[in-house]
Amino acid sequence: MGKKMANIGIITSGGDCGGLNAVVRGAAKAAMLRGIGTYIIPNGYAGLYNLVDFNNLVLLDEERTDHVNSSFAGSDAGHSRVKISKIADPEKYDRILMGLRKFNINGLLISGGDDTGSVVVDLAEHGIPCVHAPKTMDLDLQTYSVGGDSSINKIANIVDDLKTTGTTHNRIMIIEVFGRYAGHTAFRGGIAADADCILIPEIPVDFNAVYAHLKHYYIRRILNSDVHAGTYVIVVAEGVRGEDGKHFSEGAGKDSFGHVHLGGAGRYIRGRLEEMMRGDPEIKQFMKTSGMYVPGVFEIPEIREVIPSHIVRSGSTSAYDVNFGKEIGAAGVILLDEGVSGVTVVKVCNGAIRYMPTSEAIVQRMVNVDDIDFYEQMDVCFGRVREPYEAKLEPQEGPVERPM
Ligand code: F6P
Repeated sequence: MGKKMANIGIITSGGDCGGLNAVVRGAAKAAMLRGIGTYIIPNGYAGLYNLVDFNNLVLLDEERTDHVNSSFAGSDAGHSRVKISKIADPEKYDRILMGLRKFNINGLLISGGDDTGSVVVDLAEHGIPCVHAPKTMDLDLQTYSVGGDSSINKIANIVDDLKTTGTTHNRIMIIEVFGRYAGHTAFRGGIAADADCILIPEIPVDFNAVYAHLKHYYIRRILNSDVHAGTYVIVVAEGVRGEDGKHFSEGAGKDSFGHVHLGGAGRYIRGRLEEMMRGDPEIKQFMKTSGMYVPGVFEIPEIREVIPSHIVRSGSTSAYDVNFGKEIGAAGVILLDEGVSGVTVVKVCNGAIRYMPTSEAIVQRMVNVDDIDFYEQMDVCFGRVREPYEAKLEPQEGPVERPM
């Protein structure tokens, strides 16, 4: 039987992605076994703010929970991007408390990323018991966040698929992917799809380095091919920057957390590379040698940029994210029931629930550039001149913790 909780409200918030329904299902199932009721608070923090006006909420009983399919991406609970502290209503926290009292909800399980987590901290400070189940495809929290693996798999499949059209037209393909200010999804998705070049915000782009790598692989591939076919694939994170530190993205409008909507980095990179090719006599020579050159019509290789956008967050959830999502959903319920609040579930290891203060979990985590040093040894271009790799060797001490 439950200890502290009669009923828990589930909120999913921020950008949706894979694994959220697994969080909902894991939480509902664990709550049921403890005799706790689980209610969906619809549409993120917008629903929380308006809870007091609702006539009824969906109870996740056995039957309703059966309809929550863990492998569907997105969330049956719905989302919004609302920062509670920004709501222009001085009574907002009292209004939220009234809503929770109305439905006898004693705690909240909230799944989301850094912005959502900042509201978890805020609500906990206002005396509302809440636990954070980490979710974001951007993977920029200190913990793993559900949705990352699903999005990386999507990116890898899209990039791999685009090679067929790229090779058919001998085009250079640039795929711009979500990930906000961090490069995790571009990095891991690009590696998974054997991308030639991966550009991430953590490494300012040196166009000369990209161009030299592109020329080497692209020209060699086409000239070595018996049908003179080849492509070169660049995966670019939407938040990528130049050597002056500025985003290439054109940006358009801001959300309630103050984030600019990024977009356009791929187009900018295409423009720069086209300019370099136009001024390069070796490219003209290559076009002639490969039999592609047509004066006034086809003088330099074509480049296309593709923005899969929300597709990388949609559709299905990876098996890894279903496992992790269920784990953190159930763990979040247990933490709430044990009276713990204002924390983020890290993972379940050897049957124990690991957690940390949400204020620490939401500190932004960028790609570790030491890992890039290592991956450069496989001659992936990361938009800079590759330095010689100094091998770092670390014998494992003690047993390996949770190898899977
Ligand atoms: O934070 C998740 C994310 O998918 C980012 O990678 C992306 O920049 C943003 O959300 C897009 O936001 P929206 O769903 O509001 O268009």
